[in-house]
Amino acid sequence: MVTQVILPRILQIGEGASQQLPQVLASLGCSRPLIITDKMMVKLGYTQTIQDCLAASGLSADVFDDTVPEPTVSSIQAGVAKVRDGDYDSIIALGGGSPIDSAKAISILGKFGGVMRDYKFPRIVNELGLPIIAIPTTAGTGSEVTKVTIITDESNDEKMLCVGVGFMPLAALVDFNLTLSLPKRTTADTGIDALTHAMEAYVSQKASLYTDGQAIAAMRLIGPNLRRAFHDGTDKHARERVMLGSTLAGIAFSNASVALVHGMSRPIGAAFHVPHGLSNAMLLPAVTEFSIPAAAERYADCARAMGVASEQDSTDVANSKLMAELYALNDELEVPTPELFGIDRDEFFRLLPTMAEQALQSGSPGNNPRVPSADEIIELYKKLW
Ligand SMILES: [Fe+2]
Repeated sequence: MVTQVILPRILQIGEGASQQLPQVLASLGCSRPLIITDKMMVKLGYTQTIQDCLAASGLSADVFDDTVPEPTVSSIQAGVAKVRDGDYDSIIALGGGSPIDSAKAISILGKFGGVMRDYKFPRIVNELGLPIIAIPTTAGTGSEVTKVTIITDESNDEKMLCVGVGFMPLAALVDFNLTLSLPKRTTADTGIDALTHAMEAYVSQKASLYTDGQAIAAMRLIGPNLRRAFHDGTDKHARERVMLGSTLAGIAFSNASVALVHGMSRPIGAAFHVPHGLSNAMLLPAVTEFSIPAAAERYADCARAMGVASEQDSTDVANSKLMAELYALNDELEVPTPELFGIDRDEFFRLLPTMAEQALQSGSPGNNPRVPSADEIIELYKKLW
């Protein structure tokens, strides 16, 4: 079997990596960047820090800061217009997954025109848009190293999955310093998202030896450090490991796909506006329990990599420890149930058939070691209550 691996051309990893932006731009032959970010990054001063860093090298950059969480077709329109009317040679995508996902869409639409629906899966977008230098501030969605973006069509609440090398950033600057002041809730949600990426890539039917290595390394970094980062955001040791783990998990799932957790998570996000990492966290224990019988050894490897089971533990013992850990982690990271989050129970149950259908249509459940029927997906959703 041949595995295709797609990565950014440059990965700059470690404390202070974001300050090396001018050199990275120069090495890519870029000098007229547009910063794409959100209002929070401006408010927290991150955008100014990047602009100061550019100014010290004689560069300046315009800013588009109107990206929103869970980006939609209309939320990126003004950014597309700015790229079309401007004379930019690159995009600096600064922020969590949403600004980076928005930047990917703007890069393609700004250069090639059309509407987002034209680019949605199963089309593979191989066109190269405006070069993107991604600077993630969460750990994370992994968007800085994935060839995927998700843009919601607000006319029908569809989360359109768009895939192809055209969406891969040309460079990513992975600087854990930018995560030191992340709020606890964001640390937890994005951290569990990253852990889910690693686990799903490892058990995916599209896993390869290459992605296995990245996924296991990611679990080793995230498993013992996520609680530490959650309880003490200034813990640099933990932040550095969760950040790198998130990037490696991104590399793993970008090349091995995600599976049932993500497939079931997107419809919850679209219907009830639950943050992506949080809906993953709600689903991870139940979906793992459902999937273990089809990939028991693989899940036992996950438990060992996360540091909750030992090499001496049998597969069954390791998997019991894995399940206990997933419940304990949700508890300690204060993951709410759908009810506590504020989802209306009747509405949730009414939408179950639609959500199950959307989950199956996304293709992700087909990568799961145990491929569920629509009825089984509905039963899994019910277990969240
Ligand atoms: Fe995710």
